[in-house]
Amino acid sequence: MIFPRHLLSVDDLDYDQAVKVLDTASELSKFSGSSIKKLPTLRGKTVVNLFFEDSTRTRISFEAAAKRLSADVINFSVKGSSVSKGESLKDTALTLGAMGADAVVIRHHFSGAAQRLADAGWISGPVINAGDGTHEHPTQALLDAYTIRSKFGKDSEGLSGLQVIIVGDILHSRVARSNVFLLTKLGAEVTLVAPPTLLPVGIENWPVKISYQLDPLLSSADVVMVLRVQKERMVQSFFPTEREYSRHYGMNSHRLKSLSGESILLHPGPMNRGLEIDALTADSSRSMIVNQVTNGVQIRMAVLYLLLSSQQVVGEEV
Ligand code: CP
Repeated sequence: MIFPRHLLSVDDLDYDQAVKVLDTASELSKFSGSSIKKLPTLRGKTVVNLFFEDSTRTRISFEAAAKRLSADVINFSVKGSSVSKGESLKDTALTLGAMGADAVVIRHHFSGAAQRLADAGWISGPVINAGDGTHEHPTQALLDAYTIRSKFGKDSEGLSGLQVIIVGDILHSRVARSNVFLLTKLGAEVTLVAPPTLLPVGIENWPVKISYQLDPLLSSADVVMVLRVQKERMVQSFFPTEREYSRHYGMNSHRLKSLSGESILLHPGPMNRGLEIDALTADSSRSMIVNQVTNGVQIRMAVLYLLLSSQQVVGEEV
């Protein structure tokens, strides 16, 4: 199977390629419990983590993933770098390229920054989008799909027939956008729940249902994905008060009781406990929030492996 050179958007992957990433992560997870976690697969390669925006889970899991595949890792964060002296993305990228970066993982506050890096050719190897503005976060969607698939036992298939609710700040969420397009590609039915002020323009063209009310949907959901209220991206007031937001859209122990069967709860993190989710719900047995973090390492190993393995042609090695 041929893989795209870069992973900038979930649209870069067709159905078979997306399933291949999930299957590869599943294979790689078999090594995570063994005493020797390292595989020699990417020995001699250098992966650069280029983070212009804060991150805990994504940055650390890409680092762990690269190291478990025996790659060398260079971590670049804006704080303490020459970016604070005004150095451009181009000059930063050329500098890292000159140091022998084989792949670059980039997080940036501008939507399209990863695409710019890939198109400009300042770096010779693959570019992986670790979140660009409000645009996309493809590896988050892949790890969410992997977490859902692992729970519902659909190992050799996509996510056909599963009902997924994504609730909260859709407007500012690259996680929502990537999940909508990946989960529906894999066969899930997605409903977005938010106040009208937190839905983006053009949402009617997305392959989803829309609801302004959460409660009527809970009993039929297999997955409830709660989004962080991204206060740092809000330049105006999108809801009257935080209490009002929580009352209508927050997942709490009362709403938890409305969930049925084996349904699960996801949150990409970091959480605003007490706003979009309460502590009892976040720490409940239905919560797979910690599993998402673990799965993030397997997914990022799979992505690095598939994009960096020789000639971009993936055989049956894994
Ligand atoms: N989910 C996510 O992207 O978390 P971080 O911002 O901590 O990387």
